[in-house]
Amino acid sequence: MAAVKEGDFAAIRGEVRKILKQPGYDDGSIGPVLVRLAWHQSGTYSAIDSNGGSNGAGMRFGTEKMDPANAGLHHAITYLMPIQEANPWITHADLWTLAGVEAIEAMGGPKVPWEAGRTDYETEEAATDHRGEIVNRLPDGSKGADHIRDIFGRMGFSDKEIVALSGAHSLGRCHPDRSGFDGPWVVNPTRFSNQYFKLLMTQKWKPREWEGPFQYEATVAGTKLMMLPTDMALVEDEEMRVWVEKYAADKDLFFKDFAMAFGKLIELGVERDDSGFARLAKKAAKEGKPLDKTSLPGKGCPFAGTTGKGRSAKL
Ligand code: HEM
Repeated sequence: MAAVKEGDFAAIRGEVRKILKQPGYDDGSIGPVLVRLAWHQSGTYSAIDSNGGSNGAGMRFGTEKMDPANAGLHHAITYLMPIQEANPWITHADLWTLAGVEAIEAMGGPKVPWEAGRTDYETEEAATDHRGEIVNRLPDGSKGADHIRDIFGRMGFSDKEIVALSGAHSLGRCHPDRSGFDGPWVVNPTRFSNQYFKLLMTQKWKPREWEGPFQYEATVAGTKLMMLPTDMALVEDEEMRVWVEKYAADKDLFFKDFAMAFGKLIELGVERDDSGFARLAKKAAKEGKPLDKTSLPGKGCPFAGTTGKGRSAKL
């Protein structure tokens, strides 16, 4: 991995692009799992408790690392590690989100707005102390529309945004050894498209008969495809279905709305101050206290063995 000039995020994008193709991995690309990493990193945010979100890269530690919802994301983190080790000035939290948006674009998707400035937790204690209780924040694929609205409502997303974001299931696949579910949603799962919505509208999805968790299946062009109960909920729910129809019919509209929604997702929990850096602050929302803007510069990240020098110098 090349060490690029400090602050050259375009060059970091170039480094990410170089590692996307991995012939021995899944469908030959780590793009989809990078997108999922950025989403799960951010999707812990609660607008109610004012904690969680993409800042801090808390998934390197404790409960978040062990959360079954994040099973398999260590692949994404491990692939990105050499880039961070060669460029310790970039935080994991920035790298993970940047890798996600670069992967989307490289796979033919829209340009998602991205801004630097996320900081990392330096220790497990800092993560635990500042992150708060953030378990059970990610969606459960076996559930229905109410669950989806609860989960995404907590992050501050509307029906339209929920449907747009779900279009990321045009990428990647389910793995029995991770989520228990099995298979891809679309025939070409390394190309960002509105196929997911088209298939939701056009196929006769039938319950799969197998030993695994309840999921739907259909065969398209000789490939067995799947839908989760939460995917089907988007067409079963009247209000969300309107957006599925729109996105199935209009790829440009989907790309535009997805880019906006994903850009918003990766900003959740990131509050930059005048320095341009987001502090790892604990919002004591429960006690009605204002945001604690204390910074936590430290001696480096134990996960990647970085010195954290570049970051601390700026903080
Ligand atoms: C109701 C909401 C959602 C549910 C229940 C859900 C559930 C799942 C499940 C069960 C998997 C398979 C994991 C595995 O076995 O490896 C998965 C994969 C994936 N999800 Fe979602 N997801 C949701 C929303 C999203 C959103 C909002 C995004 C991004 C914007 C996203 C992006 C992805 C991607 C790219 C993959 C493929 C990962 C891979 O190939 O390794 N998902 N999702």
